[in-house]
This record gives sequence, C-alpha cells and structure tokens, in this order.
Amino acid sequence: MTHAPNSLAARDIAYLVHPYTNLRVHEKQGPLVITKGKGVWVEDDDGKQYIEGLAGLWCAALGFDNKRLVEAARRQMEIMPYSHQFAHRSTTPVIELGEKLLAMAPASLSKVWFVNSGSEAIDTAIKLIWYYNNAKDRPEKKKIISRKRAYHGITLAAGHLTALEYARKGFDLPMADRFLNVTAPTFYREGQAGETEEQFTDRLAKELEDLILEHGPETVAAYVAEPVQGAGGVIVPPDSYFPKIIPVLKKYDVLFVADEVICGFCRTGQMFGSQTYGIEPDLMTVAKQLSSAYLPIAGLLMSDEFYQVLADRSAELGNIGMGYTYGGHPVSAAVALETLKIYEEEDTLGHVQSVAPHFMKRLKAMEQHPLVGEARGVGLIGAVELVKDKATREQFPASAKASVTAVNACLPHGLILRGLPFDAIGICPPLIIDEAEIDQLFDRLWSGLDDAMDKLQAA
Ligand SMILES: Cc1ncc(COP(=O)(O)O)c(C=O)c1O
Repeated sequence: MTHAPNSLAARDIAYLVHPYTNLRVHEKQGPLVITKGKGVWVEDDDGKQYIEGLAGLWCAALGFDNKRLVEAARRQMEIMPYSHQFAHRSTTPVIELGEKLLAMAPASLSKVWFVNSGSEAIDTAIKLIWYYNNAKDRPEKKKIISRKRAYHGITLAAGHLTALEYARKGFDLPMADRFLNVTAPTFYREGQAGETEEQFTDRLAKELEDLILEHGPETVAAYVAEPVQGAGGVIVPPDSYFPKIIPVLKKYDVLFVADEVICGFCRTGQMFGSQTYGIEPDLMTVAKQLSSAYLPIAGLLMSDEFYQVLADRSAELGNIGMGYTYGGHPVSAAVALETLKIYEEEDTLGHVQSVAPHFMKRLKAMEQHPLVGEARGVGLIGAVELVKDKATREQFPASAKASVTAVNACLPHGLILRGLPFDAIGICPPLIIDEAEIDQLFDRLWSGLDDAMDKLQAA
C-alpha cells in the first residue's frame, strides 16, 4: 500500500485539526486517502479495501453507502436548503427531528437544542449550566466535574472537560479553575491490590463525595460523564458504578450531564448508554450516530425543570444570547430524521442485540493473544489494552506508541482501527456489521497484533 505524496496544504490542515496525530511524522508519510465506501468497508486510493473498524470516528452507524440518507439530503436541498433557528424561527425537519428524538430519549428529557458538533453541544451545556445557576441566584455554583481520561470535545470550553494530556499539552489548558476531575472507573487500571469491584466503586463514590465537600456543594454545578468512556480507552464501568454515583449527585444538587456523543443510538445495546446503565440525566449530548455522520449535527437535550429556569430568565433579560448560524441546519436535520427512521424501521437495535454476543465472544477471545492484557466492551463497542507483561500489567514505554504501532500493523491486513491513549485499541464498527464481518475484523486484528509483536517486544 502506498500513501499519497506528502504535500497538499489542505491535507496538512486536516491533520492539524485531528487529535492524537504527530504532524511531523505525517508530513513525511502523507495521509491514508480514503476514496470510497460500501457497507462496513472503505477503499483507499490504491484500491485496497479495509473494514472500517471504528465506523470512521465512532459515528458511521449505517455504513458508507446508505441510499436513503443520500436521498433525504437531496430532497431537503431542493425543498429548502437553509433557514435558521434564531428569533423564534424553525424548519419542518428540525421540528420533526426534535419530536422523534425526544420520543426515543430517556424520559427525564423534554427539550432539545440542535448544534453542529459534539464539542459545541458540550460548550452549550457548560454555558447553559452557568446561566441556569445564575438564574437560580446561585452564582457560586459553577464548577463542573469530569473523569480522568474523559473525552468531551476539543474546543476551548469542552477541552477543559477532556482530561487527556494530548488535548491540553501545548495549548495552555486548563486555563480556568472551574473544572475538576475524578478517577475513571477502570477496575483493571485503577483497582487496588486486594480490592473487590464493589469496594472499588464504593471508593470512587466516596472520592466524588469528598471532592464535592472539599470544594463546597454550593460551588459544584454538574458532573459530566460518557456512559462508556470512548476516546480515553473504551472504559466500561462496573455495573455498580453509576448506581453509587447518582445518589451522591442528587444529595448535593449536582446536575448529571450524560455525554452520549459515542454511546447514543444503539451502540451499547440499548438506544442510549443512559438506559444501559440506569441513568436519568438532567442534560444529554448527542452527535455522531444521530445522522450516521452523513452530515454534521448534534443536540443538547435537557429536562423540563432545567429548560423552565432558562425560559424564565430569558423572559426577564429579553432574550437568550446563544446560537449558531448552522445549528439545526435543515439538510442535516433531514438526514438525522431519516437516520432515526432507519434505526426504527430496520430494527437496528434488534440487530445490535443479536450480533453483540458474537462480537463480545470474539473480543474476549483476544485476551488469549500475548499482547492483550484486557479485552473489554459492551454492545458493539470495545477495546483491547496492550501490555508488555500480562502478569504484572506493565505497559510498554510511551516511546513505543504501542496502540498506534499495532493499528498501523493492522492496515496491511485490511483493517482500520484507532490507537488510543493508555495503549488501548478502540473497536467500534458500523452498527450494520454482520457476524461474518465481525469474524473478519477479529481475525485481522489478531494478525496485525502478531505482526506488531516483534517491534513492540523490542521496545
Ligand atoms: C464523548 C464525546 N463527546 C464529545 C465529542 C466531541 O465531538 P466533536 O468531535 O463532534 O466535536 C466526542 C468526539 O469524539 C466524544 O467522543
């Protein structure tokens, strides 16, 4: 496989905005140029085919050639390509999408605000939480807690909740003291010697409570969590984790923001990750699989209580000074609406539930590979975590870039995956994947890891 010649400025700029990428390396090597797609497969400019094992960036749920989505975009482009959401205006696809989305969403949510990306949805949540507490005459209640290894976006505000070094180093982040972190619920890495999983989640709930008390509950506004942490290494929480976290938040009147940008729409085996883990969020962000990534659109869903506080305050102030030119773009909204109809009509959730046990069986079997310390997952999302020594769980030196080395070794086998921090490899195929393709995905991953082994063990 060859790579495109190094050079085009536009390609270099594309890499600039792509996290976890070493610009200098890619300058020499040039990007892998994807030209076509069909089902769960994509093709590069040499005609080589790959299983897209991360559905792009955890998003192309319906694969790469869905004709209904293309037609929905074309239709809306012809009828009415643009109108906006400002000054009490809306469009038919936005209204229909809002109604459909809220009918599917956890019952605690009753309003939705459409934006363009996951980061914008998180930024919007942060600003509205601050506005909400000002409106409630609680000007001190502004601090927001996320977990270590969280990924909540890369814009300035969302970047404060993203607790990954690569998203901060070199960018002067964090620059505000309103953002706090607690331990990520990875028993494999954070569990202490002799500790049971129950004791581990007790300790994490206590850590959260201690942090709230240390700062004063009157200063802590919200806790933001992905039901399954994606880009931080696909961290699947123990079943007892959220049931212990939720009462602490309720006790101190701290809002629960569920970031469902990856987990939303069938990924974890229920329509939303919140349903998989029994969460009734006050706010919820969605993006990615909302439109199967065919066009950019995201949403911030909120409870009625939260919305009413905003509405009353905006009546006093004369308006609410938030919004984006392309937020709720009608063509994106039409494609998202069609996506949700497809999930329903084609019973995507039923399909995920039927293939997930096979996915989990093949995923778990990866623990037999000499490089894999832990294989973890739920629904159709998972990761393998690479270790130098299985018994001690010792990691490879950072200079080995273990996960990136391993995913690069999968490319010649026709498999695209994503190397994540903490030596995890993310696996998150399009939801339409079938059992035969799941077998091909894991066979290719095994071969790629075999090829990476010499290089890594020499590191
Ligand atoms: C959980 C989560 N939240 C937010 C974001 C940010 O979304 P976007 O890249 O659309 O800004 C991402 C992106 O991967 C994500 O995984």
